[in-house]
Amino acid sequence: MTITTCIFDAYGTLFDVSAAAREAAREPGNEALADSWPKLAADWRAKQLEYTWLRAITGEHRDFWSVTQNGLDWALEAQGLTDPDLRERLLQLYWELSAYPEVPAMLTALKHAGLNTAILSNGSPDMLAGAVNSAGLQALLDDCLSVESVGIYKPADVVYQLVEERFGCTRDEVLFVSSNGWDAAGASGFGFTTVWVNRMGLPVDRMDHRPAHILTDLTGIPDIAKGTE
Ligand code: LAC
Repeated sequence: MTITTCIFDAYGTLFDVSAAAREAAREPGNEALADSWPKLAADWRAKQLEYTWLRAITGEHRDFWSVTQNGLDWALEAQGLTDPDLRERLLQLYWELSAYPEVPAMLTALKHAGLNTAILSNGSPDMLAGAVNSAGLQALLDDCLSVESVGIYKPADVVYQLVEERFGCTRDEVLFVSSNGWDAAGASGFGFTTVWVNRMGLPVDRMDHRPAHILTDLTGIPDIAKGTE
């Protein structure tokens, strides 16, 4: 089936979630992060995701901004960091995360090929708008779809269904791209063709469904979408 629609996970896929801790660590006054920022960033991300899965299982949904703050508070306490200004700065930086360098050219190539492009993310609509605007990607994306419209996190099927509803396409026309192995597995199970962007050289997740493609960054996406890879 020909791909008509390319859908991207946001955090970790288009936007570098480690950038907030990395950038804060370089700023005067935040010397406490000089050595510990990679661990802080990893704990923050791990707890943020863990809380999304727990909230999906229990049905106690809270938006991604809430679980992002909860995850950061856990990670800061684990490092013994108590400075409220540091907490505020890290949260502020989360609204203006850097996009990976290849993102603008990759999205431009998809638009030139006449494909639909959008984000499908756990992020709340205002967080996603902040990140997209900060990275200057507005003109390269047709939409930002958020789990907030269904009130449950990925990998629930109702989240992936948002793509079919928005674009009026069938699932076999969709190329879904995520750096999260569990998200790629969920989307594969739903029926999308998937790309797992494995920047860190991690093992594939032991789930029932495997990604159709594995890349180390996003540069190969247009060729996969156009069927020329
Ligand atoms: C997202 C998270 C999973 O953007 O990275 O949906």
